[in-house]
Amino acid sequence: MSLIRSTMRILRSIPATCTPAALRAESAAASRTIKTKRFAVKCRTYGAAGVAFQERVRLGISGERWNSNARRSVQTFRCQSQATEDTNQTTTRLHGRLLEKDYEDIDVELVEKGTVGLIYLDRPKSLNALSDALMYEVVDACQIFDKMEEVGAIVITGRGKAFAAGADIKEMKDKTFQEAQKSRIFSHWNVLTAVRKPIIAAVNGFALGGGCELAMACDIILAGEKALFGQPEVKLGTIPGIGGTQRLIREVGKSRAMEMILTGEAFMNAQEAAQKGLVSRVVPGDNDALVAEAIQVAKSIAALSRPTIAMAKEAVNAAYELGLSEGIKREHSLFCSTFALEDQKEGMSAFVEKRDAQFKHR
Ligand code: CAA
Repeated sequence: MSLIRSTMRILRSIPATCTPAALRAESAAASRTIKTKRFAVKCRTYGAAGVAFQERVRLGISGERWNSNARRSVQTFRCQSQATEDTNQTTTRLHGRLLEKDYEDIDVELVEKGTVGLIYLDRPKSLNALSDALMYEVVDACQIFDKMEEVGAIVITGRGKAFAAGADIKEMKDKTFQEAQKSRIFSHWNVLTAVRKPIIAAVNGFALGGGCELAMACDIILAGEKALFGQPEVKLGTIPGIGGTQRLIREVGKSRAMEMILTGEAFMNAQEAAQKGLVSRVVPGDNDALVAEAIQVAKSIAALSRPTIAMAKEAVNAAYELGLSEGIKREHSLFCSTFALEDQKEGMSAFVEKRDAQFKHR
């Protein structure tokens, strides 16, 4: 309990008007691990409490509210007394919690000093079947990461042997036509495509049905050696419903997409997925190696100018929506826009002056 008391002391000592820089200095003292029943915070450089508080400062939520929220959280989730000094943590972890959210079916972490948002699909017993609740959480976490200035890229992966074995069949099996249509079933997934920051899918195992579609809705897919892609919906008497019929054909060509979708079998393994360009590459080793590699890719993107990256993503995605000449026009317009950025001046000056660029994300 003494750690809880000292954490609360630190939280109380953070003034409402604290600037992010002052906060970093303040919370550097809070380098500890707190393990709770549902709320684990591993702190390193400036601590998860610091990251969350910093975001509150940015979002204009007062320090007082944060302090009382934090106090309530700690009380509500009844921190257990296990607590260890930890100076070697490389991650800042908000177990099942991001800002004020309690997530049940995903696990959320901030890694690489808060520059990469990591989302674990966390229903391993159901092979991370994509229930409505889980997908609302994924969408919500992505939107929050998208708003967080520190975060430059997002990684989505699955716990256990699956990335995701599809939409939750048990949840949707009794839906009527009217219910599916009226609720615009799965339409909330489309919000993901509006996220401006790059999303990397680290596909560690089964990516079937909605799982394959979720991966394809991301910007980059890295595959683990055991990754398996497929669209088995026809075997359930339905068809892919979250972009599978539209995206797969663009990635692997008509014939292979038709074979996968019309047989519901003919799954694609990691090697073939890499050959066909469905994934950018196969990462050797276990799940941890895959996630570590995805984080490295995300970290390298996060080190670059955020507005430039957002424009690059928008330009590439335009190729999905537009014909060639319209796409080239969009690219040209975005390219010209980069010259309005300080970061373009900095990037090019740094090259000429043979030094590393210091991007300010503006
Ligand atoms: N929805 C709900 N539960 C699922 C699930 C899904 N998509 N996939 C797996 N599960 C559950 C199983 O029911 C099982 O639960 P119980 O222990 O309670 O029985 C548990 O996860 C483990 O699954 P298995 O025992 O089947 O594991 P396995 O290793 O033998 O087989 C598998 C793995 C081949 C992936 C098999 O689970 C499977 O075929 N799953 C369904 C794949 C599928 O059809 N996906 C498409 C879904 S529809 C869709 O996604 C529509 C869309 O486009 C929007």
